[in-house]
Amino acid sequence: MRTTLQNWTLLFGSAVLLAFPAAASAQLSTYDIETRIGAESHVGNVTGHAKDAALPYRRYCVGCHGPLGDGNGENADWFLTPMYQKPRDFQLGVFKCRSTPTGTLPTDQDLFDAITRGFDRSNMPQWNTLSKQERADLVAWVKHYSPRWANEKPGAPIQIPPEPEVTAERIKAGRDVFARVQCWKCHGVQGMANGPSASTLTDDLGRPIAPFNFTEGSRPKCGDTDQDIYRIFMTGLDGTPMPSFADNIKPDEAWDLVFYLRTFMRQHSKEKDLAKGLGLKPVDPNAPAPAASGQQ
Ligand code: HEC
Ligand code: HEC
Repeated sequence: MRTTLQNWTLLFGSAVLLAFPAAASAQLSTYDIETRIGAESHVGNVTGHAKDAALPYRRYCVGCHGPLGDGNGENADWFLTPMYQKPRDFQLGVFKCRSTPTGTLPTDQDLFDAITRGFDRSNMPQWNTLSKQERADLVAWVKHYSPRWANEKPGAPIQIPPEPEVTAERIKAGRDVFARVQCWKCHGVQGMANGPSASTLTDDLGRPIAPFNFTEGSRPKCGDTDQDIYRIFMTGLDGTPMPSFADNIKPDEAWDLVFYLRTFMRQHSKEKDLAKGLGLKPVDPNAPAPAASGQQ
């Protein structure tokens, strides 16, 4: 089994590797971008075409994401706080909400879902009033800003096993996972975004960023179903310090952790009731880390 220090080195090491190819591809010329105007997207049975999205992009998106898609629209600078992130720089081809492993491109469906859903705790609006065709065209348009799609395919979506029944044992086991992989270092022992590392975090572009506060009642950016939450920590939010734990958490343990995270959330849930019944205490940061299941 790896030591905690080795785990952290791995996590941060991979974040640094990701940052470099990305930063090098920013600030493309209009000419370079226009060479990819033939970009397409495939969402269900709809094919999106970048060339059809010039007008809707100018109408709905350019004020924030900018004419070059680099996140420097005229309204972009209103958004700089650790809580409110800047509009995404599409030239980098790095996205938070993916069904695909960390470091890989998202699927067209992932981008479509992000645009449809919008981001809570952010100025990225919800675009579910646009037609499916318009949103698919916008996905193709977003892709045409980055040369990554010309050279790489999206990653293969991670497999999520069927959700098991919630039990008190699973919630307790989830608490052990939360302690072992040290989610609390950033998110705090009660999920209040006040862990010892919370105030020091920056994204890959060096901008301050706050961890998610589970207790405030806001929705995660990448979706709020149990499957979405599973996906978030097993793929990571690329471009941010929120890492992927796919190498450290087994699929069954991941469900335990989803259930434990629900106990922090303000919304009423079966998990909250079970945790109350157990009299479950927050993890103790000074206690020795519990061993991984199956590895004792
Ligand atoms: C009012 C400003 C604003 C407008 C208008 C806006 N966005 Fe965004 N968008 C943002 C911000 C801010 C983010 C980054 C949020 C974050 O990372 O927390 C973002 C992120 C994104 C992402 C990244 C998703 C991911 O998983 O990383 C996509 C794709 C996107 N926007 C597409 C669009 C499209 C398409 C439109 C127009 C239909 C649009 N946005 C309009 C502000 C805006
Ligand atoms: C190194 C610090 C760090 C660690 C460790 C960490 N997180 Fe995060 N996490 C973050 C940051 C920063 C964000 C906010 C990203 C954003 O808003 O773009 C975040 C966001 C999240 C979100 C919300 C994502 C969304 O879509 O809005 C969830 C859920 C989450 N983390 C769960 C976890 C779990 C579970 C663990 C442990 C397995 C964990 N985190 C470990 C820093 C961390």
